[in-house]
Amino acid sequence: MHALEQKILAEGIVLSEEVLKVDSFLNHQIDPVMMQQIGQEFARLFKDAGITKIITIEASGIAPAVMAGLELGVPVIFARKYQSLTLKDDLYRSKVFSFTKQVESTIAISNKHISSSDKVLVIDDFLANGQAALGLADLIHQAQAEVVGIGIVIEKSFQPGRDLLLEKGYRVESLARVKSLANGTVEFVRD
Ligand code: G4P
Repeated sequence: MHALEQKILAEGIVLSEEVLKVDSFLNHQIDPVMMQQIGQEFARLFKDAGITKIITIEASGIAPAVMAGLELGVPVIFARKYQSLTLKDDLYRSKVFSFTKQVESTIAISNKHISSSDKVLVIDDFLANGQAALGLADLIHQAQAEVVGIGIVIEKSFQPGRDLLLEKGYRVESLARVKSLANGTVEFVRD
């Protein structure tokens, strides 16, 4: 997605060879116009897939997922990473280990919002090691619903997440694919 790549080049900060900071439009401050374009692109890619629900994970997946939900006309569920006061019973839960942060968290959604007839699109802001996407897919499988695809805003293609998800048979659509963050510069995958 050209506009997203331009945005990353203009505003992204390479913190290390592994980490890209995009706090100005995705992970802290949110650029609604950029998010709308991202939602439109996800909708274009998945418009014929019969999607009935979108699932993401708090916090940074929510903005792109909501925009995609608006474009596709479907509800958006965000998995919780922290205990909620109101969300207690009838939960699907999955454990997600973050290699980036070296912490394990339990993600959860209520079983009220997903059923076996749902065709679900998973959306997340970053794809690194694929553990968040796999955890979300696990929640969907617990509901016996179908994972139609995985939509990612920024994929770090030099990390193993994409291949892991493809090996498991998932359709992966990443709007920006970062090949390398070496030497303080962002290089994209060119197909
Ligand atoms: P994985 O799900 O692909 O295995 O990724 P990993 O555990 O390694 O990453 C965990 C968290 O770190 C996620 O955010 C992910 O979005 C974020 N992350 C990974 N690599 C980068 C990067 O290069 N840049 C930025 N900005 N974030 C990265 P999270 O903990 O869920 O945070 P949030 O959604 O609440 O913001």
